[in-house]
Amino acid sequence: MYNNFEKVLISEEKLQSRVKELAKQISDDYAGKNPFFVCILKGSVFFTTDLLRYLSIPCQMEFMAVSSYGAGTKSSGEVKLIKDLNVPIEGKDVIIVEDIIDSGNTLSYLKRLLEQRNPTSVKICTLLDKPERRKVDLSADYVGFVIPDEFVVGYGLDYNEDYRQIPEICILKREVYEK
Ligand code: PRP
Repeated sequence: MYNNFEKVLISEEKLQSRVKELAKQISDDYAGKNPFFVCILKGSVFFTTDLLRYLSIPCQMEFMAVSSYGAGTKSSGEVKLIKDLNVPIEGKDVIIVEDIIDSGNTLSYLKRLLEQRNPTSVKICTLLDKPERRKVDLSADYVGFVIPDEFVVGYGLDYNEDYRQIPEICILKREVYEK
């Protein structure tokens, strides 16, 4: 499996220490509050569960699923809601947790959707950010790592559903997705 990777971009140790820092920052910013985390399936599951375990404040968690990519490496630009929240978010401090922002289409759609439901606030926390690829004006409030425009997998990120379970972020060899 590791033969399919160009290199490890972010080691497990670096990931975990950055996730801890983000958790500390969020715990400080939301002191006295009870933020409502929205984990976007499936990519951000690993990040969300680590992040929440490092928090020092109470919180709640729910899941949503959207789809913007077909099978492959390019975003189609079209966002489809596959699974909505099961509970209202009125009066809640919402933090959307994503694994990666690429074009920004997914989060811009999600943020707009959730803001219509009268939450107290909506913020975005992403593990990875690829600003070079942005197609819409969107920025995250909490960013783990800004990364170059390479196809990355691991720690929740997939290529055709493979590699999500790898504990680090790796760059996929071009020949794997261009064959
Ligand atoms: C990925 C990722 C983000 C989105 C980012 O999800 O998890 O949701 O694409 O791309 P964008 O900024 O161009 O919209 P994907 O649709 O691959 O689903 P997954 O999380 O289940 O792998």
